[in-house]
Amino acid sequence: MPLNKHLLLGILGAVVAACSSATPTPAPTAAPTQAPPPKQYWPQFAESQSWPTSTADWFPSKGHYGGTSEGLVRVSPAALAAYRELTLGAKLEAGATLVMLHRSSATGKPGPVHVMQRRAEGWHYWLLAPDGAIEGHDALPLCARCHADAPADGAFGPPQPAPEYPPRPAAKYPPQPAPE
Ligand code: HEC
Repeated sequence: MPLNKHLLLGILGAVVAACSSATPTPAPTAAPTQAPPPKQYWPQFAESQSWPTSTADWFPSKGHYGGTSEGLVRVSPAALAAYRELTLGAKLEAGATLVMLHRSSATGKPGPVHVMQRRAEGWHYWLLAPDGAIEGHDALPLCARCHADAPADGAFGPPQPAPEYPPRPAAKYPPQPAPE
């Protein structure tokens, strides 16, 4: 059976690479431990990308990355209404999952993904790369510490619109010149 030319070149390339990277006394078993660990993906990442968002558009994030990024929060569908209406002291049901995507405000470049999942015993936190690869899980005391101060049982909720003030009493102010 004729060997595919590209396959053959590939094999040769691998052999050459293996030979040239050999150092004087490498134990053949040392190589696998030098390879980076395989990426682990957060299992619900793909699914979460079609979950509804809590706001119509991206909003400036006040809590993460020193205000340099914009966020968009995707919410597990069953928890959407509760999350949108989150008020002081409200509690989200076990299973509620909040996925906050980030992008740079300056360049739009996708940034890390923050995940919180409510379980009976409390919140679980994940820090993901933009492609959903897990960079940290639960051993994230920083997340928990800041979110412990959030108004609704660990969650901050969607950004609030600016408060509406009652109309000014007209008589109190002298008439203003009309702007040019
Ligand atoms: C310094 C405080 C602070 C830290 C640390 C922090 N957050 Fe947040 N987080 C916020 C604030 C404030 C919001 C509200 C949205 C905004 O303005 O950024 C938020 C929003 C979120 C949301 C959207 C759900 C909600 O609360 O309304 C998720 C999910 C989230 N954070 C996950 C994380 C994870 C995971 C970490 C750790 C990797 C983390 N956060 C670290 C302050 C923080």
